[in-house]
Amino acid sequence: MKYDTILVLDFGGQYCHLIGRRIRENGVYSEIVLHDIKIEEIRLLGKKFKVKGLVLSGGPASVFDPYALKPDKRIFDLGLPVLGLCYGHQLIAHIFGGKVGPAKRKEFGSTYATINKPVGVLRGLNRKERVWMSHSDTVFAVPPEFDVLAYTQNCPVAAFKHKTKSIYGLQWHPEVAHTVNGAKMLRNFIFEVCGCTANWKMENVIDRMVKEVKREVGNGKAIIALSGGIDSSVATTIAAKALGEKLTAVFVDHGFMRENEPEFVKGTFQKLEINLVIVNAQEIFFERLKGVTDPEMKRKIIGEEFIRVFEEVAEKVGAEYLIQGTIYPDRIESGFRRFSDKIKTHHNVAGLPTKIKFKKIVEPLRDLYKDEVRKVAQMIGLPKEIVFRQPFPGPGLAVRVMGEVTREKVEIVRKADRIVGEELEKSGLKERLWQYFAVLTNTKATGVKGDARAYGYVVAIRAVESREAMTASFARIPHKILEKISTRITSEIPEIVRVVYDITHKPPATIEWE
Ligand code: XMP
Repeated sequence: MKYDTILVLDFGGQYCHLIGRRIRENGVYSEIVLHDIKIEEIRLLGKKFKVKGLVLSGGPASVFDPYALKPDKRIFDLGLPVLGLCYGHQLIAHIFGGKVGPAKRKEFGSTYATINKPVGVLRGLNRKERVWMSHSDTVFAVPPEFDVLAYTQNCPVAAFKHKTKSIYGLQWHPEVAHTVNGAKMLRNFIFEVCGCTANWKMENVIDRMVKEVKREVGNGKAIIALSGGIDSSVATTIAAKALGEKLTAVFVDHGFMRENEPEFVKGTFQKLEINLVIVNAQEIFFERLKGVTDPEMKRKIIGEEFIRVFEEVAEKVGAEYLIQGTIYPDRIESGFRRFSDKIKTHHNVAGLPTKIKFKKIVEPLRDLYKDEVRKVAQMIGLPKEIVFRQPFPGPGLAVRVMGEVTREKVEIVRKADRIVGEELEKSGLKERLWQYFAVLTNTKATGVKGDARAYGYVVAIRAVESREAMTASFARIPHKILEKISTRITSEIPEIVRVVYDITHKPPATIEWE
């Protein structure tokens, strides 16, 4: 059976894969394709899928840039519905001869759109809708064969529709949670405009991943990098399903783990009957990070050392393949695609050394978002302590110590992290939070402890709510709980004199401080 499918043309936007994922959440398959896919290629894809619509994603460029990404214009003659989002919206207007130019005021963040024609994609929506905007160019006038459907204070054409064809543009991002009724807009496009049937399920993903690992590794052996986080735990279970005895899981204790973490991983995975090797590499990691203050450099060094450890183990067990639990946001934020901006190098992606001894690195989860990984984890029966574990960065506490990483500083932040964890878990707020942790800043400040002057570290507490880590809001933790955390940290950790709470959303901040 062919799945009804919507293709997302990738113009380099940060949210491109999120669009694909939101479509799949509705039980309709979606595939991300290159922005300049030719209509012949789309027709060819028709052999595998029933292509029912196209989405043109956002992107960082302006349609006027000399190297602006453009689609094959013939896509508009295929008779398929098209939905342009943000850059895609401007692109459609530009291609059809509308007026696009730099916005008088850049719009960034939440705003209200007034919907004056609630048809097609906007059917059933309120006259005023809260939407998420992030753009510098704007559409000032539509081409003659289009109607304006909505506007905002700074954007005269915030949504449009072709008068006779199913071609739509939205200046805002319906795929992010901040567009309150974004899911309804996408559903309108998928089901009303494209006429899709929901005939695709998450089980198909598990099946595909197992098959992929089998195919890639063939008769060879593989090792898998297991950190105990949900991503690597899912990847390990999938790889074990595919390879059985031919798989060895490697847990590297780099010394930047949270309290009791190595013990937790050992305990959990030894029960699961998986070949598990534990390597204590603390000495070498601390040694290599001596004097290093740049966060990107830290990630690169850690990535490199990880690989060296894996290479050693691989040689011992005769494995030629390395499997990693890299997920989609890790890759996009590392700027792996040609056209998106790099935000930070996630250590297991671009942090890898250029020369590695493995035949291939296999990343079965590479197109999934965190909550999709969570769904898979539940479906394959991982214990709930793993399914609901908060994400923890591969480089661990090394990127939660600002500046140079020393054993002393890691120990301080580890203690602070435990206190934050204990208090938030006790408070019952944990379920709502995506991540909560402590960061050791490289600022020192004055305080009084006992009756004496104290001079010590400033610790920052970060707690965020998020759905997929591409955007996040700082959590509004009650002051009473923050007070408890602050009191405990300053009294139980003598090196700390001051505790601050981070009230920055992502964007403009990132979740981690480094
Ligand atoms: P940021 O800080 O980029 O984090 O907003 C988004 C999510 O990714 C995690 N993170 C990392 N994970 N290696 C990882 O495996 C890394 O280098 C890394 N940096 C950030 C972060 O904890 C959050 O969940």
